[in-house]
This record gives sequence, C-alpha cells and structure tokens, in this order.
Amino acid sequence: MQNNTFSTLFVGQNLIKLKEIDSTNNFLKDLASNSEPLAEGTVIMADNQYAGRGQVENVWQTEPGKNISTSVYFRPFFLPLHRQFYLNIAVSLAVSEALMVFIPDGISIKWPNDIYHQNKKIGGILIENTLSGSSIKTSVIGIGLNINQEEFSASIRHKATSVIQILHRSVEIMDIMDKLFVYMEKYYLILKSGRYEFLMDLYMRQLYLFDKLAEYRQGEQFFSGSIKGVAERGQLLIEVDGILKSFNFKELEFTHTK
Ligand code: BTN
Repeated sequence: MQNNTFSTLFVGQNLIKLKEIDSTNNFLKDLASNSEPLAEGTVIMADNQYAGRGQVENVWQTEPGKNISTSVYFRPFFLPLHRQFYLNIAVSLAVSEALMVFIPDGISIKWPNDIYHQNKKIGGILIENTLSGSSIKTSVIGIGLNINQEEFSASIRHKATSVIQILHRSVEIMDIMDKLFVYMEKYYLILKSGRYEFLMDLYMRQLYLFDKLAEYRQGEQFFSGSIKGVAERGQLLIEVDGILKSFNFKELEFTHTK
C-alpha cells in the first residue's frame, strides 16, 4: 500500500497511479479479482486511458495528461439490491460537490449520473457492480472529469466542457482528486448509515432541469415535460400533459442539449 497524505480514512489511501492503461475500471476489476481482499477505497488513476469506457457501451475519450480518469473500489455489502440506485446518487453527489469547491455555480447532475455545468457535460460516471445473493459484493466506480482540456472534437464540442474552459485557468489534477476522495468518503459513509431519504433529497436539489419544462425523446416520439422526481429504483419521473410518467435509462433522451 502506498502512503499518501490525503485527509481521508480510507478513500485514496491506497492510490495506484498509472501512466497508461486501457481503462482504469478494467484494471481495478482485474486487480480486485486477483488480489482479494483489496482494501476498500483503493483508487486507480491514469494519465492516459486509451480505451476508456462510458455508459451504454460508449467510448470515453480524453486527452492524455489533462483530465481525471479514475476508479474507486468499494464493497457496499450493506446495500440491498433494490437500493442500488442510491450508490449512483451518493457518487454523483460526491463528484458534483468536489467540483463545486472549484466551480461554485452551475454544477448539476443530469439523471442518472452525468455531471453538468450549465448545459454541457463536464464529467461522467460508470459504476460496475458484482453481486452476491441480494446484495452488492463489489463496486468499481469509474469517474471521468474534464479538467485541463481546452478543445473538444467537433462532434462533442457543443455539449462538452472542462474546468479550464469555465475558469480560464488550469487546475492541479491532484487538488481535485483530493476533494474527490473527501466527498466520496463522506457520501459513501452517509450511504452506509442508511440515510436514503437525505441522499434522495440532496440529489433532487442537484438534478439538472428539475421542475423545468424541457424537450425529451422516447423512441420516435418527442415530447415536453417537467422532471418531478426519481423513483426508488432510479426511474426518472416526468410530468407530461399533467400525467406522471416513469422512464428507464436508455429509453429517454434529453433532446434540447443535442
Ligand atoms: C459516461 O458518462 O459515459 C461515463 C464515463 C466514465 C468514464 C470513466 S474514466 C475512468 C473510468 N474508466 C473507464 O473506462 N471509464 C470510467
């Protein structure tokens, strides 16, 4: 275990820094299965991630040396499967709160766990769990944050942003990592203490477009609606023409940001 000087009890105390890897999530999953028991809170970070993975089998591309590509290892055995979405909530709150230390205004969580600044994505989260019976055995929390990348490719320029684009100055990656560890630990311990309502309440307050009329697409159908909440298992609740409808991830697209 490496010794680090982070002010946390366990998150980031075992920190493995890599120059280059396909994906920090892949590396951490392999490490966990080959060296059980791996210390909870173990963190992998890489300068260059050349085959980063995003949600729904998307790729996650990032300029080497400029951004955060990291994965954190937890064993949330205490979390029943039907509460799995609360891990998403805890991690999204942790990432957004860590960023808000540097960018106090405009950070929100786009359901289910994209991190936004105003109308652009600044970070994404990919959580990969293994299960044991009706609980979660291990969880690899992958986090990608755009920090010092000034330019994005033409295909995502209109919907991606970074800390440097917002603040017009660069920020030390390890300063943000330090805050990330602090807030990951904070929200993980809140989750462990079972304060589900408290977490949901904070999540709703941070939710992008909450209670605002916006455009969405489900399949071929475009509609306007207003987000009213999130169900226990994570479905998004949108009021459409006075009727509350529930949407699963993958079946809904936020169209105004396209
Ligand atoms: C998304 O918004 O699609 C999720 C992106 C998650 C990217 C991070 S970068 C570190 C970790 N390793 C991966 O391969 N993916 C996640």
